[in-house]
Amino acid sequence: MKKFASIGHPIGQSKSPQIHEAGFSEFNLEASFEAIDVKPEDLESWMKTEGRQFDGLSVTAPHKELIRQYLDQETEAVKKIGAVNTVFQKDGILIGTNTDCIGAFRAMAPVINPSGKRCLILGAGGASRAIIFALKNAEADVFILNRTFEKSEQLAKEFGVTALKSLEKVDPDQVDIVINATTVGMGEWKSILEETFWREKHVAFDVVYDPLETKFLHDAAEAGAQTITGDQMLVHQAVAQFHLWHDIEIDPEVMFQAFFE
Ligand code: ATR
Repeated sequence: MKKFASIGHPIGQSKSPQIHEAGFSEFNLEASFEAIDVKPEDLESWMKTEGRQFDGLSVTAPHKELIRQYLDQETEAVKKIGAVNTVFQKDGILIGTNTDCIGAFRAMAPVINPSGKRCLILGAGGASRAIIFALKNAEADVFILNRTFEKSEQLAKEFGVTALKSLEKVDPDQVDIVINATTVGMGEWKSILEETFWREKHVAFDVVYDPLETKFLHDAAEAGAQTITGDQMLVHQAVAQFHLWHDIEIDPEVMFQAFFE
């Protein structure tokens, strides 16, 4: 039986097991999927022991960048993005790749084509890296705002985008797409942006999916903006993981249904 897991800290809210298990049932696969809480200080020892027992890992906050040093190989995508959200084994070798990028692109595609659009992205962690990569590929104009300015400055250098020191420098009317790629709003009613920031012309995209309606998206919707909920990126990156791990194209609807169960 093949074994899979999602790892993060905290991990309690992870929906990865239920959406992947729905795929196992759909295709009669003999496999298990568990969510494992791994603290950052334990990641190295966990990856050197238990981590190697799994056929695949789904990696979430805060390990997406840290995990790179404990893998045997990484794909070209990881070298460019600088973050791993998916691990697979090939002949006993642990390989890191990234499906967040395709997940972000597919999440946005039905709502907006980011080409030539001005995008404000909040956060400079692993999720942010993959989204910036997707936006740059789509030739969007990207601005990053992060609590720790040094991290956004580093991303700005790597990806050829602009790092902002504070929100005061941002004119909401000049922004088209606003993305929350931080963990703010996860299990809490909080948003980095004030209610007054939002405009009807905005598209708001949140990577947080618990709750599905975050304060960030709620405030955006109140102002008449279009919203993209966190289940979109979660499911689309999982569809790409499923393909990588099982060589099967799964209908995203199977995973969306499982998400809402
Ligand atoms: P992921 O891998 O999901 O991107 P991460 O690498 O831990 O997770 O990144 C989390 C992001 O959320 C970071 O940009 C973090 O800001 P810092 O770089 O300053 O740590 C941001 N973040 C987390 N909590 C925050 C908070 N309370 N206010 C603002 N930003 C926060």
